Amino acid sequence: MFQKVYAVFFSPTGNTKVLTETLAEQLAVSYDVPCEVIDFTRLQARTVPENTERVPSGTDWNQFSHQYTFTPDDLVVFGMPTYAGKLPNKILPFVRSGFAGNGAAAAALVTFGNRSFDNALAELCACLNEGGFATIGAAAFAAQHAFAWDEKAPAFRKVYNQYLEHETADVFAEKDPTAAAGTADMMTEDRQAGMPGFGRPDPRDFNELKAFGKAIQKKITEWSAVPGNRTELSEAKSQSIFVPGKADAPYYTPTGLDGKPENFLKAKPKTDWERCTGCGTCAAVCPMGSIAGRDGRWETTGICIKCHACVKACPEGAKYFDDEAYLSHRAMLVRDYTKRCEPCWFV
Ligand SMILES: Cc1cc2nc3c(=O)[nH]c(=O)nc-3n(C[C@H](O)[C@H](O)[C@H](O)COP(=O)(O)O)c2cc1C
Ligand code: SF4
Ligand code: SF4
Repeated sequence: MFQKVYAVFFSPTGNTKVLTETLAEQLAVSYDVPCEVIDFTRLQARTVPENTERVPSGTDWNQFSHQYTFTPDDLVVFGMPTYAGKLPNKILPFVRSGFAGNGAAAAALVTFGNRSFDNALAELCACLNEGGFATIGAAAFAAQHAFAWDEKAPAFRKVYNQYLEHETADVFAEKDPTAAAGTADMMTEDRQAGMPGFGRPDPRDFNELKAFGKAIQKKITEWSAVPGNRTELSEAKSQSIFVPGKADAPYYTPTGLDGKPENFLKAKPKTDWERCTGCGTCAAVCPMGSIAGRDGRWETTGICIKCHACVKACPEGAKYFDDEAYLSHRAMLVRDYTKRCEPCWFV
């Protein structure tokens, strides 16, 4: 049926990676074919190799030639996280231009932080179809929100708790009376468990992922029974699966505790210099290649997409965001989006 299954993903904090790889491996085992991983999280994986055409600086990503090419004998599980209800806007041009489907079958998968995937799955399906893939299945899985996890950074705990105590304790008091206690520590274990998507994906999610994989296989088997179906598979655009949302919808506008829009587009992570050892891990994991260091002081000098890869990877808990608009949005997520969102899938 297929010669190879691919796990293709962008995944700064690892949720999308684990789900995409697990599904791809499951499908590879079922078809008894190899599974290859294409992780384009790092900037190097999205840069045109030296031996292809030279790209002058300032060139639009859209003009890049395809880097990753597939065939109709491939089955590709393509995973992306939801950012502001869509695909990460700085990575979107590469998703559009970096892959040539050539009729390969694709399963689209998005993760989201238990708020909503809004239009992300629709956008991913549209990108894959435009890129020449036959999208035969699509799924959205809730996962731990990159903005609200069990941060180790003491500097973050301090600014966040200060923010909550001084600005908003009364708001939380309505939902959680212990938060009104003046010195309420919002980072207690109870509060962590009440974070959007805490501990996800979990065993229930992985069971759903298995069911999604089985449904994809069933659909492929049904199509295989139709003579000449290989062409049909590659022309699946015409019989596109239905997914909720609109590919060309605007981005979600983050709101704060007061329900008003919050803008933290310019926010960048800070470094707690008392804890930083200068190891450079943060620079190595930044998907934008935006952390540069001089004399062991690693700082964000370029574009920051707020992905939290550096925050999560820092072994010392020295990276953190302290932007007020960000803190307010984060607190709103913790207040309003802890009710479990179940995964959903479409074939
Ligand atoms: C900048 C940014 C924006 C996000 N926007 C949303 C969103 O609109 N809705 C949502 O439910 N989760 C949102 N999330 C949470 C991510 O979708 C979620 O944490 C995802 O699993 C991260 O994927 P990764 O672990 O593969 O990096 C956002 C995360 C980031 C970093
Ligand atoms: S990963 Fe943490 S400790 Fe290492 S250089 Fe970056 S901020 Fe410093
Ligand atoms: S600096 Fe910004 S883009 Fe780079 S890893 Fe940290 S949060 Fe992500």
